[in-house]
This record gives sequence, structure tokens and C-alpha cells, in this order.
Amino acid sequence: MEELITRDNVEQAARTVRELAPGFEPEVAIVLGSGMGELAEQIEQLACIDYGSIPHMVASTAQGHKGRLVLGTLEGRRVACMQGRLHAYEANSAQQIAFPVYLLASLGARVLVITNAAGGIDPSYEVGDLMLIEDHINFQMMNPVISPEPQLGPRFFDMSHAYSPALRELARKAAQSCGIGLREGVYIADLGPSFETPAEVRAFRALGADAVGMSTVQEVIAANQLGMPVLGISLISNPAAGVCDEPLSIEDVSRAAELAAGNMGRIIRALLPSL
Ligand code: HPA
Repeated sequence: MEELITRDNVEQAARTVRELAPGFEPEVAIVLGSGMGELAEQIEQLACIDYGSIPHMVASTAQGHKGRLVLGTLEGRRVACMQGRLHAYEANSAQQIAFPVYLLASLGARVLVITNAAGGIDPSYEVGDLMLIEDHINFQMMNPVISPEPQLGPRFFDMSHAYSPALRELARKAAQSCGIGLREGVYIADLGPSFETPAEVRAFRALGADAVGMSTVQEVIAANQLGMPVLGISLISNPAAGVCDEPLSIEDVSRAAELAAGNMGRIIRALLPSL
């Protein structure tokens, strides 16, 4: 398969973005997950670019994902915000999913804030809870850094602090200042798009996971290859399969995410000035 994440491809994409937002250099990259797109509307927008019009980027087909890059200012920080992301279940490769992270870093972003909706595996989690991601398990068995010759960073790199402890501390303070409780736990990424079986969820629990979703890990691996610190927060949109008896539906997941997205936005806004 042809390699996607090359210096030339990333530079070509970055040139297109710079042409549409001349002189703009983001400080913070934000990825908004399912139901969380509203935060992008709060940005003082300078430019709004559909993924499909950026070379080498694929358009998003996921429900509740607008699929555009919003550039502007929020809480005094220059942000590049992905309003919607790319998933493996849309038939994207790991490199296609991670490509925007290389692009955002190349534009100048030095920190990556990632959000997602996830099913709660820990039975004490409630719908609407926010979980600071302390670590992940990549059950997708894909990796964006697999290539004949890695071009934008080392082939082998440490993942023992994949989610920056310093950023986690800032997030705890931000949440506290907003009076919003934060859980902390391990995120496991499943391929999807089918939800898990109860047996899979029991297995994930035994593996040490607290929440399950279908995203995030590819982007986080890419950021770690670049030495870019990551903050990840999951919004618990439902109990994972078998944790309660209700059948899962994407409509319920999206609705719960939209309802609780306000708290996610508040924490990110409170956090931004310290980034
Ligand atoms: N499983 C996988 N992904 C999800 C879930 C879930 O229960 N909820 C939201 N995203």
C-alpha cells in the first residue's frame, strides 16, 4: 500500500491550510468526538475547512461528525479544532486516521486535546460522567507508524506516558475550578462499528479497561511519535454492553453525548489558558 504519512504529503496539506488561513499558527489542536462538535461553534472562527478539500485527507462519514477543521481563537489560545474525526469503522486506514495529527503539528500545534464518547465498563460509571484517560489499550490492532521507513519521527518510541501526566494534572485543576467531577481510567479502542458483546466487555474489564470506544488510539500514537503531549477525555455516553441490560443504539449514544458535552466544553475552556 502506498504510504500516506510522508513529509511531502503533510507539507502539501499544511500549505493548503495556510493558504486558507494566512499567518495563522495554532498553539493547541483539539479533536472533538461524537456529539461534541458544539465547542467548535464557540471558537472565534478565522477559517473553516472541510477535510475533503485538504489534500490527502479523507472526508468524515460518521454520524454526528461534521468533518471540518475549524481554525480560530478560544479563551485567548489559537486553536485548530477537528470538528469530527476519522474512524477505522469508516474503512479508514490507521495512517488516514492519524494524518490530521501530523498536519496539525506541522501547522504549529504543540499540544493535542482529544475527546471521545465511550461506553462505561466500570459499573460505577454513570452516563454523562467524564473520564480523564490515564492510559489506553489498542485493541484495534492497527498502528499508523507501520511503514517501510518512518519519515516524521522515530520508528520505536516510548508510550509509557502516552497521556501527559502534567496535562492530566492541569485538567484535574480545570475540572475542579468548574465544579465538575472527573473519573480517571483506561480507555480501550475496539474497531467497531458493531458494539461489543457482553463477553467482550467482560474480557476488556479483565484486561484493565474502564471505558470502551472506537477511536483515539491512532491519533495518540501519532502524537507520541512526534513528542506532542496529549490530553484525552472520554464522555461516558452509555454503560457498555452487558453492564446494564439495555440494548445499545447509536441514537442513545449520540443523545447522551450531546447532553453532557457542555461539561466537556467547560473543562476544555477552563484548561486552555494554562496550555
Ligand atoms: N462501545 C464502543 N464505542 C462506543 C460506545 C460503546 O459502548 N459508546 C460510545 N462509543
